[in-house]
Amino acid sequence: MDVIEAEEGTTRFFVPRQDSGHAFPPGTGRIFYNRRMELNRDATVLLASVLNPREYLDAMGATGARGIRVASECGIPVTINDRDPEAVELIRKNAALADLQVEVTGMNIHTLLSCRRFDAVDLDPFGSPAPFCDSAIRGTLRYLMVTATDTAPLCGAHKKAGIRRYFAHPVNTEYHAETGLRTLLGFVVREAVKYDRGIRPLFCFSREHYVRAHFLLENGAGRADTAVARIGYIHQCTGCPDRTEQHGILPVCGPCRSCGSPTVPIGPLWLGPVQDPGILAAMLDRLPDHVLNTGRELGSLLHTLRDELPTSSFYDYHVLAKRGKVSPPPIDEVIAGIRDAGFRAGRTHYSGTGIRTDAPWQLIMSVLTGE
Ligand SMILES: C[S@@+](CC[C@H](N)C(=O)[O-])C[C@H]1O[C@@H](n2cnc3c(N)ncnc32)[C@H](O)[C@@H]1O
Ligand SMILES: [Zn+2]
Repeated sequence: MDVIEAEEGTTRFFVPRQDSGHAFPPGTGRIFYNRRMELNRDATVLLASVLNPREYLDAMGATGARGIRVASECGIPVTINDRDPEAVELIRKNAALADLQVEVTGMNIHTLLSCRRFDAVDLDPFGSPAPFCDSAIRGTLRYLMVTATDTAPLCGAHKKAGIRRYFAHPVNTEYHAETGLRTLLGFVVREAVKYDRGIRPLFCFSREHYVRAHFLLENGAGRADTAVARIGYIHQCTGCPDRTEQHGILPVCGPCRSCGSPTVPIGPLWLGPVQDPGILAAMLDRLPDHVLNTGRELGSLLHTLRDELPTSSFYDYHVLAKRGKVSPPPIDEVIAGIRDAGFRAGRTHYSGTGIRTDAPWQLIMSVLTGE
């Protein structure tokens, strides 16, 4: 295997030499490593240092970069698994390079998690984590961490694939990045509650081509019922920007309250909070202690997440400005205008032109048009 050294955080490890003439991601037979996921791995390291799980399973390790970093930069006992024998060989080599006592296994994740449980389990598959969530929930004692790179199915661009993977109705709105994340969380709830377990999201975000979610699994039928109570739908109007939120496992559809047009249900979605403010605060506190290449971006993401209003969707004010036939002013002016009218308003990490607010869309429109 032709490898080169890479460095993330304070950890060095070998990765396959990327063939520049090769399409990315590399084809089969190569072990996967994507430098663009460094912030995702930095976030894992920071969160793991805050949660301090008894042990951490990097269930789909590839190069093992994520697990090796958690072991080396957080001092947490780590197991790294991959079903690919070439990956296992590289993970062993990387554990030796870092001089770490890491357990390395070469099993199918379903087999591994049918016979063992870990305090924290990390799922980082190619594409959708949906086929692995059941095994992961059975094999997780407390913390489940999930990456999904199938944003097109989650966000409604590939509707049939979204329905197959998540048994949900995704719709490609301007806030699809958020409904994608909430669809994934809704799916995880459905996978967890059949075992009388609930979930509490700790730190979740959507970025570039992926969604990353971290949650605490809580045991007991009561916790499961609480999680189910946070499931519901967003009903998006087909004729105007209006949308309403509805809790419940079944969608109850009706015409738009603003214009009377038909609405379309998006979901089932997790409508509850997607962050734990205490965890975000602890991560921000701990950030200066870690050497992270993406530290600045990660800090800025954490600040934005901390300040996001707890609405279940947001408005893209450029879309509203286009509808109102006005050119969009700077976002801070719009936010200030909404606040001056007595509503709460703020930015969102999902989009640079997104505004979260408890104001109706007509109020944003009047701030934009001055009418
Ligand atoms: C996207 S890569 C993981 C990337 C890695 N976690 C990182 O941060 O660089 C997905 C890995 O999952 C492994 N994999 C896929 N299906 C699996 C299964 N059923 N059981 C175990 N490993 C699996 C693949 O061999 C591949 O190496
Ligand atoms: Zn309407």
